[in-house]
Amino acid sequence: MNNTGILQCKQLTKRYTQGELDVEVLKGVNLTINTGERVAIMGASGSGKSTLLHLLGGLEKSSGGEVILDGVNLSKTSATKLAKLRNKSLGFIYQSHHLLGEFTVLENVAMPLLIAGLPVKQASLRASDLLKRVGLGHRIEHKPGELSGGERQRAAVARALINKPGVVLADEPTGNLDSKTAEQVYQLMLELNQELNVSFLVVTHDHELATKMGKVLHMEDGVITG
Ligand SMILES: Nc1ncnc2c1ncn2[C@@H]1O[C@H](COP(=O)(O)OP(=O)(O)OP(=O)(O)O)[C@@H](O)[C@H]1O
Ligand SMILES: [Mg+2]
Repeated sequence: MNNTGILQCKQLTKRYTQGELDVEVLKGVNLTINTGERVAIMGASGSGKSTLLHLLGGLEKSSGGEVILDGVNLSKTSATKLAKLRNKSLGFIYQSHHLLGEFTVLENVAMPLLIAGLPVKQASLRASDLLKRVGLGHRIEHKPGELSGGERQRAAVARALINKPGVVLADEPTGNLDSKTAEQVYQLMLELNQELNVSFLVVTHDHELATKMGKVLHMEDGVITG
């Protein structure tokens, strides 16, 4: 991998302007995530963590600065290329699982592969293998509503990883779980990080879980303070 890392941002800024309202949420964030690296971001509510993840994931446009994912400058690429790059190189995990309720767990996990153009049979096979790996082999035909919170988050981890992305961005992935289940989900992320060499950038309020990630960064009022 080149020395710019799999995901990098330089002097990243974001401001929201609505009429009289002008809020500067990110004030020049510099960050590099290397291949296989695990990084946690902690910080007070409102400090800009989710906004940073949205910008790094190309879900929102920055006001200034650059995001470079897999060597591609996100602000200089077309919407179509950005969508493809996101599907290929990034996985997302949110506090609430965001699985689609009307589809089975297998279908939910296979979906990024189907979007990428893989035939249904191959996509299902890969999804079922990964679901076995996260301990959900016996739940593949269930709907998300029929799973426990921890099982749903493990399914969400599987969905984020199915495309073998370079980076997974996770925004309080265990925020809705009890501490024991949260610990299990972290353990799973750590194992997959080592097995697949996927980088993880995880926002959490839990100091103990953050320290499991290796590197811990702190965000304060729109900047990373170290
Ligand atoms: N669409 C928006 N328009 C205006 N302001 C916004 C918008 N989205 C976020 N903000 C503001 O940006 C700031 C940072 O929000 P963000 O969601 O990034 O915080 P956070 O660090 O993730 O907080 P939390 O820990 O509570 O999730 C907040 O003050 C919020 O009010
Ligand atoms: Mg947030």
